[in-house]
Amino acid sequence: MAKVSQLMISNILLNQTDTPKFQSIAADLAQAILNGQLVAGEKLTPQRREPGATSAVSYIDMAQNVAIPTDDDGALLRAMATLSQSGAHIDEVLKYQPEAGAQRHHQIGAQWLTRFGTGGAWNRVMVTHGAQHAIAGVLRTVMRPGDTLLTESLSYPGMLALARSMRLQVIGVEMDDQGMLPDALDRAAQTFNSRTLFCSPTLHNPTGSSMSMERREAIAAVVRRRNLLPMEDAVHAAALTHPLPALCTLVPEQSFLVSSFSKVMAPGLRVGYLEASPRWLDKVAASIRADCWMVAPLMPEIATIWPETGEAEHLIGLQRNAIAERLAEAKRLLAGIDMRCAEHYPHLWLPLPQSWRAGSYAASLRQAGVLVRTMDHFAVGRAVTPHAVRIGLNKPASMEQYAAVCGPSWRY
Ligand SMILES: Cc1ncc(COP(=O)(O)O)c(C=O)c1O
Repeated sequence: MAKVSQLMISNILLNQTDTPKFQSIAADLAQAILNGQLVAGEKLTPQRREPGATSAVSYIDMAQNVAIPTDDDGALLRAMATLSQSGAHIDEVLKYQPEAGAQRHHQIGAQWLTRFGTGGAWNRVMVTHGAQHAIAGVLRTVMRPGDTLLTESLSYPGMLALARSMRLQVIGVEMDDQGMLPDALDRAAQTFNSRTLFCSPTLHNPTGSSMSMERREAIAAVVRRRNLLPMEDAVHAAALTHPLPALCTLVPEQSFLVSSFSKVMAPGLRVGYLEASPRWLDKVAASIRADCWMVAPLMPEIATIWPETGEAEHLIGLQRNAIAERLAEAKRLLAGIDMRCAEHYPHLWLPLPQSWRAGSYAASLRQAGVLVRTMDHFAVGRAVTPHAVRIGLNKPASMEQYAAVCGPSWRY
């Protein structure tokens, strides 16, 4: 048995407390890792799980990226009541539909996407099972194994997982506080002879950064010059009251725009919308057919009722207010700490000072019962990532607890 483990166990036996020994050992092991007493490869004491035992630690999960619960289950009940009174629509949701969705469903989708400056043409929009499904449909349509995909140097993990499963080569493009840099994109497109780009110009996950109009125009100029095919992710942008026009509106014939209800209303609906020129939509529709024939129509039906009855704007308003409250609280509790945040974006981005590596900071918080995301989660390949963490504001009262564990000694 390793010396450190031996020492810890004798300490635990000496300090008889009410804490079960297995928990004391686990906690001390974690501390020893943080202190550098236990290094990778060191032999540990044998571990076993007690029959029926569950995890002893309950974590405040500030790592997840989910909408803030606004307790408005009533919206679903009201939509069900509306649906139950419309015989024709009930009938429709039980039938096969075209791959792109029923026409009235993509009409609503087209209307939804006009908030990003699109023209609202229903025949340029299809319904998907959330943004993730749209991203999968587009990648499968335009890329083949081994192809190169360009994206921000920190990018959406769901897209990275898809790219891995498709054996794509993903290249991270350098960013500044407005997102992707046009010159870096130009160089990467040329160096890697790449044609496809995935990017989030508005409220980028994880940094919360947004491109100015000038930056969008400069990126669009590179897209045209290098004949790139961009897919724009506007999932978080949906929370904004007046988002800047989507990058896609600057290159409408050679782009895809993806958005969903997930971050502003209900991720469980799995409703997303994809806009593209009709020649591309037909091809993505074939990919959806291969997946599941079509999106289950009941969900887009609810997503159609909500905007029609004004419920959608009401729910988004609740979400905006909840985010604003949490951000105000975070600014108050973490006054003096260098952190970045953006209006209507439910996360903080905390660049860490020299004294912390992101991994050890996150491990220390974890030990104190708080989970946050390091940038490794968003890393493209094995690129070096900034020493920063993303802190989600989605859990009630989580900010107080975070601030409490940060404590004065965590401030810098
Ligand atoms: C940037 C980004 N894009 C897409 C998604 C997926 O959204 P959906 O739930 O609509 O599939 C997420 C979810 O975390 C996200 O953060």
